Amino acid sequence: MKSTVIRFGLALGVATLLAACACHQPAEQEHTYFTPGLGEIMAQSAARHAKLWFAGQAKNWDLAAYEVDELLEGFEDAATYHRTHKQIKQPIPELIAQYMDQPLTGLEQAIKDKNLPAFTQRYDDLTAGCNACHQVTDFGFNRVTRPTFNPFANQAFGLAN
Ligand code: HEC
Repeated sequence: MKSTVIRFGLALGVATLLAACACHQPAEQEHTYFTPGLGEIMAQSAARHAKLWFAGQAKNWDLAAYEVDELLEGFEDAATYHRTHKQIKQPIPELIAQYMDQPLTGLEQAIKDKNLPAFTQRYDDLTAGCNACHQVTDFGFNRVTRPTFNPFANQAFGLAN
């Protein structure tokens, strides 16, 4: 009787182990790539939008140019991976072109000219563009503003010298 119980227990243990192994086998070398959701891309863009402000105000034009590039890349990803989104009728790439192209080009120019007043004005244009797109997509409750303080304690925004 005792040995039957032990044998049963052993068989159960082996079966459980085998089942566990089977579960962990990757399905036929199939790779799954993570595609960030539009909300994730937006959260990244919001961080870059804030960093751009502090870089520009510190006249760190190289960093400001970098943040504009990162914003552009984020919107390219949004346009590529999210051509449509939820209940939004207009295609996302169209909306991005409509609301982001002009302010981002204006910012690039202000940064090239190292012109702080122009930068600040273009920055406000960009923020208005973000909010205009949120309005027309029924996400108007996501309101973007100039940042009021710098939450990035581990990055230097001023120039090194
Ligand atoms: C295509 C139009 C469009 C443009 C342009 C746009 N957004 Fe968005 N944004 C959206 C949509 C749609 C959502 C909601 C996505 C979702 O379903 O989560 C969103 C969500 C957000 C959120 C909320 C994310 C969160 O996790 O809290 C933030 C912040 C945001 N956007 C910032 C920005 C900033 C900053 C800009 C400009 C630099 C910008 N957005 C430009 C359409 C846009």
